[in-house]
Amino acid sequence: MASSLVANRFAFVLLKTEKTVAKFHSFPLSERLRLRPCKFKTKNQFTTNCCVSSAHDEKYSNKQVISVTPPLYDYILRNVREPEILRQLREETAGMRGSQMQVSPDQAQLLAMLVQILGAQRCIEVGVYTGYSSLAIALVLPESGCLVACERDARSLEVAKKYYERAGVSHKVKIKHGLAADSLKALILNGEASSYDFAFVDAEKRMYQEYFELLLQLIRVGGIIVIDNVLWHGKVADQMVNDAKTISIRNFNKNLMEDERVSISMVPIGDGMTICRKR
Ligand SMILES: C[S@@+](CC[C@H](N)C(=O)[O-])C[C@H]1O[C@@H](n2cnc3c(N)ncnc32)[C@H](O)[C@@H]1O
Repeated sequence: MASSLVANRFAFVLLKTEKTVAKFHSFPLSERLRLRPCKFKTKNQFTTNCCVSSAHDEKYSNKQVISVTPPLYDYILRNVREPEILRQLREETAGMRGSQMQVSPDQAQLLAMLVQILGAQRCIEVGVYTGYSSLAIALVLPESGCLVACERDARSLEVAKKYYERAGVSHKVKIKHGLAADSLKALILNGEASSYDFAFVDAEKRMYQEYFELLLQLIRVGGIIVIDNVLWHGKVADQMVNDAKTISIRNFNKNLMEDERVSISMVPIGDGMTICRKR
C-alpha cells in the first residue's frame, strides 16, 4: 500500500516536472536563457520545481531573483495573516464583477505594515472598489486616525461601507463619492495640503500622474504614496505592447524614476507597487 502511494506520488511529480520542462521549452530561447528551472528537495524529499530570472543587462552580474510560480504563490498566501473580516470581504467580492481589481492579501498586508511603520494618522485611498485595501488600512489606524476613501462607483461603495461597519472602523473612514481628482482638489482647497501621512493609488491608470501631483501636495515631507499596478501584468517591459494604459503607466514610471521630489522603491508584489517617500 505504502509503496503504491510512493509510486503514485512519484508518477505525479514526474508528470508535473515534464509539464514544467515542456512549458519552459516552449519559451523563446532568449527567455529560456533568463528563466532557469531549478530543483530542490523539500522537507519530505519530493523534488519541486521553481524558476529564477536574471537580468539581460550584464552590469547586474547575472543577479538572480525568484520567479513566483503558482505553488510558490500559494505558499506566500498561506503565510499571510489575513484578518477574518478581510477574508469575508474578499470572499463576498469574489462573486462580483471586477473582483480581480482587488489587491491581493499579501499586498494588503504590506500596505497595513507601511501605515504602522509610519505611525500614520491621516491617510487617503484613491480607488476603493468594495473596500479590501481601505479596510486593511483602517484596521491598523489608531482610533483617532482617518482615511479619506475616494471612489466614483456607488454600488461598490455600499459593500465597502457594510464592511467598515462590521469591522467597527466606520468612524475612521471618510468616504468621498465622486471623481477622485475632484475630491483631492477639494481637500487642497480646504487647506489640507501637507497634512496627510500616507496615500494609496489604485484607480484610473491614465490619471496616475495627475493623482500623484495632487497627492504630493497633500502628503507631508517624509510621508508615503504607494502606487499600484506599476508592472501592469508585465506589459510595461514588453515593447510590443503599446495600448494607451500601458503607455501611460510606462510614462508614469519613467517620470517617477526622474522625479527628485521623492525617493522610490518598485516592489514586485501583486501587479507591482511603487513606494514613494516625499523628500
Ligand atoms: C482597482 S479598483 C480598486 C481596488 C481596491 N483598492 C481594492 O483593493 O479593493 C479601482 C477602483 O477605482 C475606481 N475608479 C476608477 N476611476 C476613478 C475615478 N476617476 N475616480 C474615482 N474612482 C475611480 C473604480 O470604480 C474602481 O472601483
